[in-house]
Amino acid sequence: MRLLRAVACLPGREARAGKSLPLHMLEVTSVEYRYGRENLDTPPAVTEITLAIAPGQIVGLLGQNGSGKSTLAKLLTGVLTPQSGTVIVDGIDTRDRVHRWEARRLVGLVFQNPDDQLITNTLIDDVAFGPENLGLPRSEIQRRVDDAIKLMELTPYLMTPLNELSVGQRQRVAIAGVLAMEPRYIVLDEPSTMLPPNLAEQLIATVTQLARERGIGAIYITHRMEEAVSFDHVLVMRQGRIALEGTPRKVFGAVERLRALGLEAPPVTLLSRRLRARGYDIQPDSILAEELVTQLRPYAPEKETWGNVMREAPGSDGATADSAGTGAPPASQPGATQPPVLETRKLSFTHLRGTPFAQQTLNELDSRIPRGAFVAFVGPTRSGKSTLLDCLNAIIKPGRGMVFYNGADTGEPGFDIEKLRLAVGVVYQSPDSQILEDIVGKDIAFGLIRRKTPLAESRRIVRECLEAVGLPYEEFRNRYTYALSGGEKRRVAIAGALAMNPETLALDEPTAGLDPQGRAEFIALIRALRRERALTVVYMTSSLDDVADMADYIYVLDAGKVTFEGTTREVMRQLPALERLGIGLSGVSRLALELATVVPDLDTSCLDLDALEADLLTRLLPAPRVSSASGEEAAL
Ligand SMILES: Nc1ncnc2c1ncn2[C@@H]1O[C@H](COP(=O)(O)OP(=O)(O)OP(=O)(O)O)[C@@H](O)[C@H]1O
Ligand SMILES: [Mg+2]
Repeated sequence: MRLLRAVACLPGREARAGKSLPLHMLEVTSVEYRYGRENLDTPPAVTEITLAIAPGQIVGLLGQNGSGKSTLAKLLTGVLTPQSGTVIVDGIDTRDRVHRWEARRLVGLVFQNPDDQLITNTLIDDVAFGPENLGLPRSEIQRRVDDAIKLMELTPYLMTPLNELSVGQRQRVAIAGVLAMEPRYIVLDEPSTMLPPNLAEQLIATVTQLARERGIGAIYITHRMEEAVSFDHVLVMRQGRIALEGTPRKVFGAVERLRALGLEAPPVTLLSRRLRARGYDIQPDSILAEELVTQLRPYAPEKETWGNVMREAPGSDGATADSAGTGAPPASQPGATQPPVLETRKLSFTHLRGTPFAQQTLNELDSRIPRGAFVAFVGPTRSGKSTLLDCLNAIIKPGRGMVFYNGADTGEPGFDIEKLRLAVGVVYQSPDSQILEDIVGKDIAFGLIRRKTPLAESRRIVRECLEAVGLPYEEFRNRYTYALSGGEKRRVAIAGALAMNPETLALDEPTAGLDPQGRAEFIALIRALRRERALTVVYMTSSLDDVADMADYIYVLDAGKVTFEGTTREVMRQLPALERLGIGLSGVSRLALELATVVPDLDTSCLDLDALEADLLTRLLPAPRVSSASGEEAAL
C-alpha cells in the first residue's frame, strides 16, 4: 500500500512510464468531455485532464460552480465516457464495451444530491440494492449491508421510511449503498453540502478510515477548503481544466493564485503569513490550527488560569437572553414596537403524529420577525429549521401554538393564505424541490405567469433576477434545468424566488453548494435587496458563519426549542456552546477557539481575520525580530 501511495497522483503518463506500475490505479489521460457534442460552440465541460489516483489515497477536488467537477466525477466512474483521452480503472478502459461494467463496479459514485441515488423506500433495501444486482450470495449481501449500515451509523433508522430522514441522513444512506458494493475507489460529489459541520467532520473521518484501513482510493469534491487540509492531494479546477494541484500545503500556500481562481486560503494560512510579516517566527505555509498553536506557544504570556476560560456553558453571560421562550420582543431587535411581519407563539409540531415514527420537531417555539429585520435561526440538523419554515409559509399547519402574519393568526378560518405565500418568498434547502420547469427562463417566470404578468415585463424580471444571481441571461435563459451544475441550480432557485418580488424572503440553507465567490455574491445581493427594497429576511442555517455579519437577531435552535437568542455579538460569545451543539462556525471563529487555548483571554467573538489579528497582537509577547517579510505578505 505504501508503494502505491507513493506513486499516486503522478500524472498518468509518468506513472505508466514508471517501472513498477501497480495494477491498481485509476488513471485519467488527456480527457475531454463536451455536453451536446454536436454543438462545437459549447466549451468542453472538462478538457486536458490528466491524473492518477491509487488505492488508499484521498484526493480533494475544488473549483467554482460549473468548473467541471461533477462531470469529471462521472467520467471517473464510467457514467460518462470521454470523447477523447482515456479513463483506465485497474487496467480497464471505461470505453471498453465488454468490460466497462467491471470498471463501473470498481468506482462508486456518491451523487451531489442524495435523492438522485436513493431508489427504494427503505434503508435496508436501498443499501442492499447494489450488492443484490451484483448477484452475490445472500449471506454476503447481508454481511456487506450490515457493515455499511454500521459504518455510516444508520442502525437507529433501520425502520424509518427514507422520506422521513433528513437530507444529511439520506446522504449517509446513499454512501452506505455505495460502500456495500465494496468499490476500490469512491467518488464523493460534495457530500458535505447537505451536512451540518459536525457530521461533515465525521464523514471526512470515515472516508479517511476507508482509505487508510481498507485501501479505498477516494476523490472528495468540496467547496469548503478546510475539509481538504488533511488530504493527500488537492486539485483545483477552472473552466474544465486543472488549474492548480499539489499537496494541501502547496495549494493553500499559493494564496494569490487561489484568490485568482475565486478561492480563499484557510484563515490559518493567512494569519500565519500576517504574523510572520509582523516579525513572529511562524511558518508561512501552516495549514492546521494545531501547527499555529504550537508555533505561538513561545509568544503566549504566562497565565495560570487560561485552561477553562473559553469553555463555558450558555447561561454564563450575554446571550442566554431571559426573553428566550417568553415571546417577548427582544429589546435589541429592530422594529420591536411595530407588529412583526411574522411571529410564532408556542409553536409545536410533531411529524408523523400517531405513528411509531412520531417525532416532535418544534417544541413551544416563540420567535418574532420584525419588518425589515434579518432574523436567523441557527441550529444543528433536525433542530426544526425546515419545519419552522414550512409553518411560516403555511405549507403545514402547526400542531399546537400559533403563527401570526402582520398580527393576524394564520390559523383563523378566512385567513388569506395565498396573500401570505405571495408576500413570503421561500428558497428551499434542495433546489430540486423548487425547480418545476424544464427551461431556466420558464422556471423563473413560473410565478409571474401565474400572476398574469405581461410577457415583456416577465422577460425583464427574469433577466434582472438571473443577472442578480450571477447567471448571464443570454447564456442561461434557454438552458435545460436538468443540465445545470449543482451551484447553477441553486442560483436558479434563488432567482425564481426573487422574481416574485417578495416583501419577505425565507431561506433554508441557501448557500449550500455555492462556491465561495457565489456565496459572497449572494450575501452582497441580500444586503442590496435589504437596502433597496427594505426586504425582511428569515434565514435558516446550521452554520453561524453564514449569518454572523448580517443578522440583526439570532435564535439558536436545538431539538425544536430556542436554546438561546440574542444579537450576533451576544451569540458569538457562546462559541463553545454552539460548537457543542454541532453548529458550524466560521474558519476564523474555529481558529480563534484553538488559539484561545494558548492565548488567554483572546476575544473569540471576532467576526473576521482583521479583528482576530488585531486582538491577538494586543495579547502576544512582542515579536522578537523586525519583519523581514515582503510587502506582499504584509498585505495579506
Ligand atoms: N447534462 C448536462 N448537459 C449540458 N451541460 C451540462 C450538463 N451537466 C453540466 N453541464 C455544464 O457543464 C459545465 C460543468 O458542470 P459540472 O456539473 O461538471 O460543474 P461542477 O464543477 O460540478 O459545478 P458545481 O460546483 O456547481 O456542482 C457547466 O457549465 C454545466 O452547466
Ligand atoms: Mg457539481
